[in-house]
Amino acid sequence: ARKIIIDTDPGQDDAVAILLALASPEIEVLGLSVVAGNVPLHHTQRNARMICELAGRPDLPVHAGCEAPLQRKLVTAEHVHGKTGLDGVTLPEPAMALAPGHAVDFLIETLRREKPGSVTLVPIGPLTNIATAFQRAPDIIPRVQEIVLMGGAYFEVGNITPTAEFNIYVDPEAAELVFASGAPLTVMPLDVTHRALTSRAWVEGMRAMGRVGQAVASWTDFFERYDREKYGSHGAPLHDPCTIAWLLRPELFTGRYINVEIETRGEYTLGMTVADWWRVSGRTPNATFIRDVKADAFFALLTERIGDLDRR
Ligand code: BDR
Ligand code: CA
Repeated sequence: ARKIIIDTDPGQDDAVAILLALASPEIEVLGLSVVAGNVPLHHTQRNARMICELAGRPDLPVHAGCEAPLQRKLVTAEHVHGKTGLDGVTLPEPAMALAPGHAVDFLIETLRREKPGSVTLVPIGPLTNIATAFQRAPDIIPRVQEIVLMGGAYFEVGNITPTAEFNIYVDPEAAELVFASGAPLTVMPLDVTHRALTSRAWVEGMRAMGRVGQAVASWTDFFERYDREKYGSHGAPLHDPCTIAWLLRPELFTGRYINVEIETRGEYTLGMTVADWWRVSGRTPNATFIRDVKADAFFALLTERIGDLDRR
């Protein structure tokens, strides 16, 4: 099985990504490193533990990480995810404890311990933990097999400012460091995640399953409310699960290997992922920038795997 560490700020869509990974025998989740993002760290680390328990995995190491971006004040997204970050379902207070040690140390130690090129990082929140680990221990960078992250937007512009996507906007300096690190990078921007929209039939199918399916249905209902009120659109974008789905079924996705730079100084464009889609800059490609997904197959995969969790 492919070894991964999920770096996360749950978040309803983070929860679905984590559940998909834990349901999938092709993937071995070594642990979760938790970061502040959608809501502050005291919520995200608690949410991460609740998700593990829901999946029947109280043994999974969950490490709390950075409380604030490298250089900026934390920006949160309660307007999308609710006060706790996981509004929509009331889960029991988690009994499992946090794993000892800071998430950044967990990242460094795991990458140093495991065989070089055998651990994939899956960041689905702001990139603060990953950038801090890379800064503190540059020797781990060539040991990373691959980074598959959710973040950025180009054709689909922004969701937190007119030009920036939330994860990158919250910590653009961290994103800049990760995009310049030289580690192989696959990026799931809003361009693809806004094509992974839940349908009523899919949500009701989830609700008809067991405890896990019901939680997913209520989370996506909560998450969808924001897009409906804001954009009048139907369906919740399942951003973060795109990363795990790509690991499982890369053939469902299309994109281009191009240069992507992070704007860290722009007055109006802070946190923008400047994607050289037409390769006009002459800059060296550093990322596979995904643009489309076969949504029906993506949702069928989720139904199959979440169903497996509920049958366990
Ligand atoms: C990203 O930001 C968060 O709101 C979601 O969890 C996702 O990771 C989408 O812009
Ligand atoms: Ca997230």
